[in-house]
Amino acid sequence: MPTENVIWICSQAIFMGGAEMKTATLKIRRFDPEKDQGPYWAEYQVKVEENDRLLDALHTIKWEQDGSLTFRRSCGHGVCGSDAMRVNGLNRLACKLLMGHLPDKVTIMPLPTFRVIKDLVVDLEPFFAQYKKIKPYLINDEPPPLSERLQTPEQHARYEEGTKCILCAACTTSCPVTWGDPHWIGPATIVNAHRFLFDSRDRGTAERLAILSDRLGVFRCRTVFNCTECCPRGIPVTDLIEQVKRATLYGDTTDT
Ligand code: SF4
Ligand code: F3S
Ligand code: FES
Repeated sequence: MPTENVIWICSQAIFMGGAEMKTATLKIRRFDPEKDQGPYWAEYQVKVEENDRLLDALHTIKWEQDGSLTFRRSCGHGVCGSDAMRVNGLNRLACKLLMGHLPDKVTIMPLPTFRVIKDLVVDLEPFFAQYKKIKPYLINDEPPPLSERLQTPEQHARYEEGTKCILCAACTTSCPVTWGDPHWIGPATIVNAHRFLFDSRDRGTAERLAILSDRLGVFRCRTVFNCTECCPRGIPVTDLIEQVKRATLYGDTTDT
């Protein structure tokens, strides 16, 4: 066997052998409106490896201890945004948290603000209703050119951060302004407004700025930064919000 293959197999063995097991306690806020008088806490002990994700631990509970435990998940890789939940007081994606990075006791709640449908699943209809308000699609009724609507790399870079949003709602539900008024449009909607406001191909600036300057618009933001701290995509949410504030103030997006 070639030497490099032997080295590769040895390093794999060390890695496998080095995976430490521990027993984690997951304290989960549970509520089934069809049968419970109110929410309550339930604790589960799960054997996990340090490289397991919190989502794996939740699956272990669901598949081996209590099949009624309810949570959303789909991709398992930080792309679909469906498994946002409050973990030890911070909004996080369960599929992006390694058990080795968490303490032995983990407290898990549904995202705050929105109505709990069951356990860790909340009703995100109000969140998506806010999102739809800012018309999250390209607006341009000019006759299309013969080829694509071309952009320079610089023009693309101007709005690229906003394209990373996976609409997980972690930012909006971590914002104290949303806690006080769930009708406020919230940071996720503003990030998606930014994505089109600063797109050189878009012509919907005036109608979006009218929505953003509303009483429930961008100026309700108090620059608290919770949104930036919790964004699983690393989007500089507060910075984008400040850019949208300036655009709303000056009525255009050309030099903000
Ligand atoms: Fe989630 Fe970040 Fe998008 Fe907010 S901005 S919805 S935290 S991905
Ligand atoms: Fe809220 Fe983020 Fe503004 S937490 S107040 S939207 S900076
Ligand atoms: Fe898709 Fe976590 S399961 S982001």
